Amino acid sequence: MSEKLWSDVDMYLEGALIGDDPVLEATRKASRAAGLPDIAVSPTQGKMLHLFARMVGARRVLEIGTLGGYSAIWLARALPADGELVSLEIDPMRAEIARKNLAHAALDGIAQVRVGAALDLLPSVRGPFDLVFIDADKPNNANYFRAAVDLLRPGGVIVVDNVGRSGAVADSASTDESVRGVRELMTTIAADPRVTATAMQTVGSKGYDGFLLAMKK
Ligand code: SAH
Ligand code: DHB
Ligand code: MG
Repeated sequence: MSEKLWSDVDMYLEGALIGDDPVLEATRKASRAAGLPDIAVSPTQGKMLHLFARMVGARRVLEIGTLGGYSAIWLARALPADGELVSLEIDPMRAEIARKNLAHAALDGIAQVRVGAALDLLPSVRGPFDLVFIDADKPNNANYFRAAVDLLRPGGVIVVDNVGRSGAVADSASTDESVRGVRELMTTIAADPRVTATAMQTVGSKGYDGFLLAMKK
């Protein structure tokens, strides 16, 4: 099985289940033109986040790691007109591109991008949130997760991106800081009685990876 096949199937699923979306296409194009790395969630993953947010009846969503605002748009679209999405991004240039993309998506009224290192910003972020999407620097996954649980309402959910890492996550001897960050996240969750979680491996246009889904009891 090849990455080509995974991408072909993703293209098929996008066509069948999502269809043309000029706003998201413009966001991808603007992000590419600005030289941002091609590491946003895929369309099918973005729509999954959107559906998770709707499934928990989300009114307030926190995102850690904005990039060009692609996943932020999917999440913000799940919110009511008086909802709120707060997204944290360390890179001011990326934050500016994300703000433009969110404005073009007519979501600037409910989505705000805050600039800084997430660990510095989180103490001033006010909860409660219904959903938190963690997708920033992987070595800090456990730190972000702990902060997210504090900010989450009971029954709220946390999604963590990139927990598969092409299978490297199964290697307990890995010296890769991102793999270690994911593994530390797992032990943090296992030791936290406030949450229950699972994780799924994924293949698709973004390769072989996975996401974690946790719920506050
Ligand atoms: N969620 C986005 C992709 C995020 S990529 C999407 O799917 O569309 C990860 C982002 O996290 C990058 O833009 C990177 O600049 C940002 N980041 C890295 N370290 C960070 C930190 N310490 N605090 C906040 N953001 C950080
Ligand atoms: C990387 C980060 C991501 O959030 C992602 O989805 C894929 C790759 C990275 O830093 O390489
Ligand atoms: Mg990611």
